[in-house]
Amino acid sequence: MQSLRRIPFVAARAYSTRPPTSQVSHEQLQSIKSMLRVDHAGELAADAIYKGQLATLPRNSPMRATIEHMHEQEKVHLQILNTLVSNNRVRPSVFYPVWYAMGYALGAGTGMMGEKAAMMCTEVVEDVIGVHYNDQIRELVKISDNENAKNLAQVIKVLRDEELDHLNTAMDNHAKEAVLYDPLSLIIRTGCKAAIQVASRF
Ligand SMILES: [Fe+2]
Ligand SMILES: [Fe+2]
Repeated sequence: MQSLRRIPFVAARAYSTRPPTSQVSHEQLQSIKSMLRVDHAGELAADAIYKGQLATLPRNSPMRATIEHMHEQEKVHLQILNTLVSNNRVRPSVFYPVWYAMGYALGAGTGMMGEKAAMMCTEVVEDVIGVHYNDQIRELVKISDNENAKNLAQVIKVLRDEELDHLNTAMDNHAKEAVLYDPLSLIIRTGCKAAIQVASRF
């Protein structure tokens, strides 16, 4: 519940986050725009993954409430990234509809396989995203004399903490016991890393 209470604060920060144009180099500004582009695509995919899982998991699945809770948090993450992208005049990824379709297919596929596969999907995705957000926070902290970059780092820290809560939830709910865990988790992990590379540029 603690993370839910932090959302109005982080949303307010996101709304007040403006482009860190002063004191940053052209390269740093482009790097920040690239971060926002990929995060925007990632949060869209996260929203789609949970939509897909909720569409295919049985209605009486004991994991529905947990997945719905994570989905509510992802919807807020997407709203925050929508705001950041528009405030910072970032061009969204040209593959925006593709990220949605791939996220939905991944969610629907793992949801069809059952609760453990759905949790495996969350575990792997959030593990990759947690590392990705940590890399961005480190990068933003380096631009230490810029208020807007600091603001953005604070927003990403809150998102990162919630993604890591999702990871822990998945681990607590038997993600590792999913059928074909090793090959499927490798495919999902590789796919997520490739998507991050593509969405940061295009
Ligand atoms: Fe998220
Ligand atoms: Fe998440």
